[in-house]
Amino acid sequence: MNKFKTAVVGAGFIGVAHIEALRRLGNVDVVALCDKYNSEKKAKELYIEHSYSNYKKMIDEIDLDFIHICTPNNTHFDIAKYALENNINVILEKPMTFTVKEAEILTSLAKDKQLINVINFHNRLYPTNIHIKNMIEANEIGDIISINGAYLQDWLLFDTDYSWRLNSNESGLTRTVADIGSHWMDLVEYLTGLKIKAVFAEFKTHYKKRKKALGETKSFSTQANTDFKEVEINTEDIALILFRFDNGAIGNVTLSQMSAGNKNNLVVNISGTKASINWSLADLENIKIGFRDKPNEIIPKDFLITNDAITAIDFPSGHTEGFPDVIKQVFKEVYSKAKIKHHATFKDGLRQMIICEKIYESAKKNKWIEISN
Ligand SMILES: NC(=O)c1ccc[n+]([C@@H]2O[C@H](COP(=O)([O-])OP(=O)(O)OC[C@H]3O[C@@H](n4cnc5c(N)ncnc54)[C@H](O)[C@@H]3O)[C@@H](O)[C@H]2O)c1
Repeated sequence: MNKFKTAVVGAGFIGVAHIEALRRLGNVDVVALCDKYNSEKKAKELYIEHSYSNYKKMIDEIDLDFIHICTPNNTHFDIAKYALENNINVILEKPMTFTVKEAEILTSLAKDKQLINVINFHNRLYPTNIHIKNMIEANEIGDIISINGAYLQDWLLFDTDYSWRLNSNESGLTRTVADIGSHWMDLVEYLTGLKIKAVFAEFKTHYKKRKKALGETKSFSTQANTDFKEVEINTEDIALILFRFDNGAIGNVTLSQMSAGNKNNLVVNISGTKASINWSLADLENIKIGFRDKPNEIIPKDFLITNDAITAIDFPSGHTEGFPDVIKQVFKEVYSKAKIKHHATFKDGLRQMIICEKIYESAKKNKWIEISN
């Protein structure tokens, strides 16, 4: 059997998760790794044959089917563009790019070249979420009237916490909104089929200065930096956003990377005229359905009945499939001939780039901003 030949660019937090997930598929060989720093050492530790510090050299020298781009946001565009120009299918981390313009260029290039293009909004691929989408499509909760929720983390709570994400030159216009808000908004639009039509946002940057470690800082590290320099912070720690949806529903979300005790807590509540649905990363194998006139229900993953939800389950209930597993499910779908595909594409990535930009504009102008669909 011929296996797909794949390379991963960026072997930090999420790059390593990509490599692990790819290796679980069986039909993919991770033949090369590219990282700006210590690429040879990283490749050796991950048992990858070829290592590069320059992605162009890697693309020029190795015959690749797919490339996974897992580097800071400001580098996504150049790497993805070069890969697409060289006829390589691209799996790109979110947020898609640094600017909307870049996302537009990549989306049309991938379309022209007819190449596979994916954005890793993986929350869609939890089987419970596929099932929720199917329930909503089947009108089981009625007309949607409101959507609310949160995405809370605490790894940037102290002023000694630092990441490239805090620097708008690497992150983009927004930080918390693009980093975790894009996951929430993509998930809500995917589950409901609704489109966000307008946004009103309030931002807060709690620390105007942070202590940036002088050495390498790992994403999600909570170790205090002893050797640091003070740097100005120009990205938001917290964002509160109001939404108007295209069917008339209203909504809101709280996004924060400074909420103590919340490690990675995404919550969505969708209220319809017949029932409401609650899903959260803290209880990701259960769908909670609320009723006014009969007892509430919980659907655990082994009672999911829609076929495309079942295909995203590889272990029985009681054997929790979490973050590494859902990333595997995204890649399983991409690298297979599955007829129904739930994963996000560049078109979806571009849409989130536009929404993030409008949220930024709203926070700056202190007013509602429309989003054309
Ligand atoms: N889908 C998700 O849930 C998820 C989770 C975490 C991160 N991400 C996204 O993944 C990307 C990477 O985030 P991370 O947390 O893994 O960051 P990270 O800092 O842990 O890792 C980034 C890696 O890229 C390398 N790198 C930087 N510039 C490079 C270049 N020009 N060429 C090659 N390598 C380069 C760095 O040396 C580092 O090893 C970001 O876009 C982030 O938003 C997505």
